[in-house]
Amino acid sequence: MKPHSTPHNSELLELRDNIASQLGKQGVVILPPMDIEMSSRLLLTLGFHAQCCILDPWYNKGVGGVREDYDEFLPQLLRYVAPLSDHVFLWGFPEIVARFVRMLPEPLTLKCWLTWFYKNSPSRIRGWRSAQMTCLHLTTPKAVMHVENFLNDVQREKLQQGKLLYIPGPPSVIEESLLCGFVGRNEQTGHPSQKPLSVIEKTLLMATARGELAIDLMSGSGTTGEACMANERFAILCDISEEYTRIAEERLGVARIEVEESLLALLPSAEHRLPHEHVALPTKHPRPAVGRLQGHRNQLDLEME
Ligand SMILES: C[S@@+](CC[C@H](N)C(=O)[O-])C[C@H]1O[C@@H](n2cnc3c(N)ncnc32)[C@H](O)[C@@H]1O
Repeated sequence: MKPHSTPHNSELLELRDNIASQLGKQGVVILPPMDIEMSSRLLLTLGFHAQCCILDPWYNKGVGGVREDYDEFLPQLLRYVAPLSDHVFLWGFPEIVARFVRMLPEPLTLKCWLTWFYKNSPSRIRGWRSAQMTCLHLTTPKAVMHVENFLNDVQREKLQQGKLLYIPGPPSVIEESLLCGFVGRNEQTGHPSQKPLSVIEKTLLMATARGELAIDLMSGSGTTGEACMANERFAILCDISEEYTRIAEERLGVARIEVEESLLALLPSAEHRLPHEHVALPTKHPRPAVGRLQGHRNQLDLEME
């Protein structure tokens, strides 16, 4: 990051325009490495608002960082992102995230307890072998559920004929092999805690329509970015680690944008919000969807068919 003197609204506006313009060109913006407290404050100050936020922190077990202040840290994470997104997906071990279900900051409430079931966890433990992770699907009152993205061809046809009495949603248990285990090598980037694309994709598609925004401020290897690129959603990513930011850049073919240090230094102290409504996103996504998920068309697709 470049050192600089005093920041002004004009610099914030310039940064906001730069982010919006990069979204229009690449679909994904990678911020320079910073703590989620700072990145969430930055996006709020600039006026970005997302439909989907993926929150996938390290846990105090397995690989990754260990935090003494864990019980305070997790609700804090939710407070950072609650004003930024309509849907928040908090990933974690069930016995850990369960403690926080009753401590959700307003306006978030629990929409669904999702389970990711993986069969192939590599382990020499004698006894129960881990095969599940939890994702708390949290929503604000404004959140829209996009169940139409999960229709298969037959259901879509019935919907068009007016014969689908209700739109069925996907199951709350997502079955997918563990990426960092023995399979999915073609997706692996070297990040020790990378989630499979198809797992993140399901949460993204439930929360967004084509052309909407997802943020992931603990983005690791950039899985959320790849899911967004594949499905014509915009993404803003950030991670505290230089090493993982580089991995995400390489994986997505997107270079991080520059942010003046002086801008960040101003943020914690001031009520510094740009006078505006939410930032308007580009009207057109630069990358066509590759349609990886079966039957994941959204309302726009249905209307066009
Ligand atoms: C479980 S990994 C995320 C993996 C990611 N979902 C993927 O598929 O690659 C957690 C990430 O949070 C980042 N992280 C940890 N503490 C952070 C903080 N305070 N602010 C921002 N990122 C942080 C770590 O560097 C790590 O990459």
